[in-house]
Amino acid sequence: MPTVLITGCSSGFGLETAKLFLEKGWKVVATMRQPTADILPASANLVLLPLDVTDPGSIARALGQAGEIDVLVNNAGFGAAVPIELIEPETARQLFETNTLGTLAMLQAVLPGFRERRGGVVINVTSTVTLKPLPLVSVYRASKAAVNALTESLAAEMEPFGVRVHIVLPGRSPETSFGANAMPHLRGLDNPDYTPLIEGMIARFRDDTGPVTHAADVAAAVWRAATDPHAPLRIPAGEDAVQWMAEAG
Ligand SMILES: NC(=O)c1ccc[n+]([C@@H]2O[C@H](COP(=O)([O-])OP(=O)(O)OC[C@H]3O[C@@H](n4cnc5c(N)ncnc54)[C@H](OP(=O)(O)O)[C@@H]3O)[C@@H](O)[C@H]2O)c1
Repeated sequence: MPTVLITGCSSGFGLETAKLFLEKGWKVVATMRQPTADILPASANLVLLPLDVTDPGSIARALGQAGEIDVLVNNAGFGAAVPIELIEPETARQLFETNTLGTLAMLQAVLPGFRERRGGVVINVTSTVTLKPLPLVSVYRASKAAVNALTESLAAEMEPFGVRVHIVLPGRSPETSFGANAMPHLRGLDNPDYTPLIEGMIARFRDDTGPVTHAADVAAAVWRAATDPHAPLRIPAGEDAVQWMAEAG
């Protein structure tokens, strides 16, 4: 039975992905900062472990308990919508520490085993915001664009060892906790020069009438990356993501 380890399973894409792999009969190592057992169906194939991707000790403990894994899904992350001149240095640091360096730390923990076994799949969840020069999400975009770049280089490094590497790019998904988790980092609503831009962005993000990304789309894209040896390096997840990817060329 193959094993997948997923980061950030407490909600949203990570939770949905964990559920899908359990349904498909995989062993799922579902990790989250504060494990909550009852959000996933009870299963003998489920291992729930605490894991904070910014804490090297936490990563080492989780990997020590996880056993051999076949697929790593780097999904944990958060966003922030702030004009560049107003972003708190601490928020910028946390964005890179979680989204970029957290992904790097997970890779460094898992890759030696994949390389030695000449197999394994890495799936990094980034975002279609990396495809367009959107305002207000600059540092978040940069933290995810950095993951795109390192994943592309990683794919070249791992190819000789038979390790597959993929990027899943979701579109806008108002149904997860992403928007709520970004709110504490918001700055600039009290600045009349920025208020209209920020209010417009929040309204557009929450609007679920147009093409959007559902958590199930991301789970399906991760499943494809994990199981299809011919899956492309970059996989858009969600109707809007597919459109954006086509527009970006
Ligand atoms: N929703 C969107 O519109 C969207 C679009 C494109 C890409 N994405 C990306 O997709 C991924 C999942 O987002 P989502 O929409 O499912 O949002 P979500 O519901 O907020 O889930 C994010 C998950 O990441 C976890 N996390 C945050 N910091 C962490 C850390 N230091 N260590 C371990 N886990 C941590 C959260 O755990 P806690 O519960 O402990 O905070 C949560 O489980 C993120 O990387 C996000 O950037 C989201």
